Amino acid sequence: MKTNTTTKKWTVENKYILITGATSGIGLAAAKEMALQGAQLGLIVRNEKKAQAVVDEIKQLTNGKRIPQIFVGDMSSQLSIQQVANKILDTCPKIDILIHNAGAMFVTQQITEDGIEKTWAVNHLAPFLLTELLLDRLKESEHARIITTASHGHKMAKKGMDLDDVRADKLYKGWNSLLGGANLRYGQSKLANILFTSQLAKIVADTNIHTYCYDPGLVATNFNQENGALARATMAVMKLFSRTPEKGAETMVWLADSDEVSDQSGLYYLDKKAIEPALIGQDQNLAQRLWETSEKQIRIT
Ligand SMILES: NC(=O)c1ccc[n+]([C@@H]2O[C@H](COP(=O)([O-])OP(=O)(O)OC[C@H]3O[C@@H](n4cnc5c(N)ncnc54)[C@H](OP(=O)(O)O)[C@@H]3O)[C@@H](O)[C@H]2O)c1
Repeated sequence: MKTNTTTKKWTVENKYILITGATSGIGLAAAKEMALQGAQLGLIVRNEKKAQAVVDEIKQLTNGKRIPQIFVGDMSSQLSIQQVANKILDTCPKIDILIHNAGAMFVTQQITEDGIEKTWAVNHLAPFLLTELLLDRLKESEHARIITTASHGHKMAKKGMDLDDVRADKLYKGWNSLLGGANLRYGQSKLANILFTSQLAKIVADTNIHTYCYDPGLVATNFNQENGALARATMAVMKLFSRTPEKGAETMVWLADSDEVSDQSGLYYLDKKAIEPALIGQDQNLAQRLWETSEKQIRIT
């Protein structure tokens, strides 16, 4: 009798996956799951001690079969990103999947050593720069994927963004600071994740690289814990309505592992389905302008 079995062509098993933000929350849950599925991981982290604990946990979970590599880099510093990328290029002969997941929100205006507002630097410019620096190595794989953790929060930025206001002075000063300017900045950075993904898909269309972004839903993590007592209290209430990190990580793991998306690129997903982002997230002129501005912003120093 004929059996109707389909063989999966692509899995994360034995793929080399680089991931940022895997010391906590969604990234940590995804890293553990992908290691269990047989992936070899490279963790890009700012805190080596926390990363070592993750390595120990994954080693134990996989009975010593998977021991992630640690690469130390601060995603708010362009110099640090360049240094970590150099180290990765020296160490990793192949990269199959690059996952941009590290993210944060800053309630008060913080300016990085590169003169850039920090939410924008960590959430958007770090993925942009890291991608540029690692792109040639990704091209050497037979099939490669770039995945970015975006958010439904991009909808807060429905009016777009002032691409010239790199310090976000207009959002963090005056009335705007009282009217949720920091939230708006976070929304803009997550809108940038979506526009970056669609523009990148066009740029790498003739290559082996496919790119995706997704909304993990509302997830109970350590997000927004460094912004004072009010933010922590708000997050504690929100946790009552939130998903577990494991649930939040499901779409990321699926995008890394699935055959179904092998022919797709540039799209935005929720719960393992491609969905349309807000109209502003479909604005291809804005995506092009964002790309050109980001190119200049990663060459400030
Ligand atoms: N939680 C939600 O409801 C939600 C919803 C939509 C989207 N997201 C997105 O999901 C992603 C993961 O967030 P999470 O909720 O899992 O929060 P989390 O628990 O706070 O994890 C954030 C991760 O990013 C890392 N990180 C932050 N700043 C960094 C920097 N400057 N350099 C290097 N690494 C840095 C953190 O490292 P440390 O461990 O050293 O702090 C941590 O590993 C973010 O992009 C966030 O925007 C979250």
